[in-house]
Amino acid sequence: MSKLLIRGGHKLCGEINITAAKNSYLPILASCVLCEDEIVLHNYPCYLDTKNMCEILSSLGAKIKETDHSLTIDPASINSFSIESALAGQVRSSIFMLGPLLGRFKKAKVAYPGGCEIGARPIDIHLSGFRKLGVDIEERHGYIYCDAKNIHPATLLLEFPSVGATESLMMASVLLKGETKIYNAAREPEIVDLQKFLNSLGANIRGAGSGEIVIEGVEKLSGGEFTPIGDRIVAGTFMIATAMCGGNVLLKGVKPEHLQAIIDKLDKTACTITIKNDKIKVQSDGHPLSLGKIETAVYPGLPTDLQAQLMALSCVCDGSTMIVENVFESRFKHVPELIKMGASVHIKDRVALVKGVKHLYGAPVTGMELRGTASLVLAGLVAEGYTTVEGIKHLDRGYNNFENDLQSLGGDIKRIDD
Ligand code: UD1
Repeated sequence: MSKLLIRGGHKLCGEINITAAKNSYLPILASCVLCEDEIVLHNYPCYLDTKNMCEILSSLGAKIKETDHSLTIDPASINSFSIESALAGQVRSSIFMLGPLLGRFKKAKVAYPGGCEIGARPIDIHLSGFRKLGVDIEERHGYIYCDAKNIHPATLLLEFPSVGATESLMMASVLLKGETKIYNAAREPEIVDLQKFLNSLGANIRGAGSGEIVIEGVEKLSGGEFTPIGDRIVAGTFMIATAMCGGNVLLKGVKPEHLQAIIDKLDKTACTITIKNDKIKVQSDGHPLSLGKIETAVYPGLPTDLQAQLMALSCVCDGSTMIVENVFESRFKHVPELIKMGASVHIKDRVALVKGVKHLYGAPVTGMELRGTASLVLAGLVAEGYTTVEGIKHLDRGYNNFENDLQSLGGDIKRIDD
């Protein structure tokens, strides 16, 4: 089992190229099933989640080649509509396969998805949307069986603007003759990216980025080439790390407008943030001021995927911060570990009250989920003494060589194997 060994107290200075967003890549990879021609995807983020998704595609029969940070996918040979539990259990995004499989084969059998431990994460909104499209669904012995012989376009109103459900339903409707509308759709940039990708293959989708998406079905998609957007959550994590440690870091390859909510928050901590095209520069003296009150929300609000990292920052701010987690019900698993390091955090239901302390102290801590593990790494970077972070398999789901990037900025961090 690997762990990270961190000695805190170093400023971060330098440049980081941000790879493509995992949350763009995952639905885009899944949607390749809708096509029979070759697709090339650039700026491949070699995370555990994207690797697992490629494994799922290969298990269905796709041929995938990785060369020089790009993937070449040949979906012509896909001949299976069934995903076994050993594979689906590794990544929640296996649920994304349902829509494309229904589009291509009119049937699908997918084991219940796995993924991060951040709450119940039901899939009822995905399934009720499929049912509205006329799909017969049976849930038996850990598998979801879908029969779409009577699938038809429909007008769908999502009970909540779920990112995954919006993407699933877009993918299921691309090849349906007629017009499907999704109301109360999620508006995240990754959904706009999925629309751009599918339209580049010949789909006819409009409205992504707003609450109303219209999909005019087309007969077929052709192959193509695409570069998904940069990972705003990885970029946000480095921005927060710089605010905490102090220093001067330039992030390249991410759209600043995707990070407006976090830029607004970091402004309050007295960081200097400079924006130029696809570059964000963060300068900090390492003495952040309090964030006041922060609440996670759907886009364009503050992303829940940066809540844990912002909590690590709040722990060392001058003053108190109130954090309200509105998106997932169980996303404070990092708190007991931060407390081990000397943080002062009190939780009641979905609200955490964080009182900034002068120092965090190095300690052995364990990450329980992806972003929570990142928050422990950030805390370790500012703590006095040595911190060991276990559970880094969670970190590897959504960061590529995180420790190498932090090292290149001057952080004292290394991966050690037991
Ligand atoms: C996506 C992101 C994840 C991010 C989340 C919220 C991907 C691969 N993952 O996850 O990193 O944290 O958006 O921004 O893009 N819900 C239901 N029923 C459903 C679906 C969702 O009740 O059928 C609930 C969830 O439990 C959660 C909320 O809706 O409380 C938001 O979930 P959703 O937007 O679907 O997140 P994901 O697509 O799973």
